[in-house]
Amino acid sequence: MKSIRDAAVEGKRVLVRCDFNVPLDEQGNIEDDFRIRAVLPTLRFLLSNGAKLVLISHLDEPNGESLERMSLGGIGKRLEQLLGISVRQTASCIGKEVDATMSSLSKGEALLLENIRFCQEEEANDTEFAKDLSRLGDLYVNEAFSVCHRAHASVVGIPKFLPSYAGLLLEKEVAALSKIIKDPERPFTVLVGGSKVETKGAFIDAISEVADLVLLGNLLSTAQGGKKFKHEEKIVRPVDGIPGNGQEFDIGPETIALFAKHIKEAKTLLWSGPMGKVEEKEYEEGSFAVAQAILESGAYSVAGGGDTVAFLRGHNLAEKFSHVSTGGGAMLAFLANEKLPGLEALGYYNGN
Ligand code: 3PG
Repeated sequence: MKSIRDAAVEGKRVLVRCDFNVPLDEQGNIEDDFRIRAVLPTLRFLLSNGAKLVLISHLDEPNGESLERMSLGGIGKRLEQLLGISVRQTASCIGKEVDATMSSLSKGEALLLENIRFCQEEEANDTEFAKDLSRLGDLYVNEAFSVCHRAHASVVGIPKFLPSYAGLLLEKEVAALSKIIKDPERPFTVLVGGSKVETKGAFIDAISEVADLVLLGNLLSTAQGGKKFKHEEKIVRPVDGIPGNGQEFDIGPETIALFAKHIKEAKTLLWSGPMGKVEEKEYEEGSFAVAQAILESGAYSVAGGGDTVAFLRGHNLAEKFSHVSTGGGAMLAFLANEKLPGLEALGYYNGN
């Protein structure tokens, strides 16, 4: 993968695929701007080197419709505050208004296109659409690791038409996650929780090929029922739970002690998915205890996934981890050794 550090960007129009898919509250206010802040080093690097920026992102899943509540308007405003420059915005992601705004852009200025998923050609990976987008730039930067598992036009289509580079965050994600699966210091212990059970089974089988132990959170363990995993000998299930509404909504004190013991012995730790139903305060004890144990262990620690990151950030614990991934599905796919189309498009798997 070529790095933007090696690109000549002075006076160039640079198309940057970002992932500003941030959580919004009922009124449409940004709840957490972690993903916006994470791309600032790349944007500042490009701006200070005299590039003109065209920023591309999706927000949520509008499925090809222009939906007001999924507009990037508020994100553009937050970017302006964070970057300290005016960020132009267009009502569409392609067309005459975009072309006109683009041609009036000067060095060190930025344009944020409207939600790319308002155009159904994005998810359909339409070649003409990708070609039209590519005309807005002289080079392309993928700074959206978290969407690299999607073969969409702005992820895999544009690189067919423009010299393409990895952004600083994308490089950092790949380096941190590779370290975990390629050469982890052992014992390597993984904690998997959360409630999206259907997406986790295959991940647990894949990660247990390299991990020494996989500790399962409560909701996940209950939902898996009696299902056996490929490396059952590496799986550690909760031994007690905190009941709520006829189910168990958190790991109990004995499980906390058991998990803490395994965490203490580990040299590499990966955590994806809260241990319990952390959106309700009374069920966050298990996740909190696990987070503390991870930080006290001194091991190389990586956390990822929207709910886990939100939990850690809510308790001001995120910055204490060795790496907090911006990726949800993309992180799991990468760690499960699946080929990510977005990385493939940058030549990552050919060693380019
Ligand atoms: C994410 O939130 O993980 C990324 O933004 C990808 O979003 P998606 O799952 O809607 O493709």
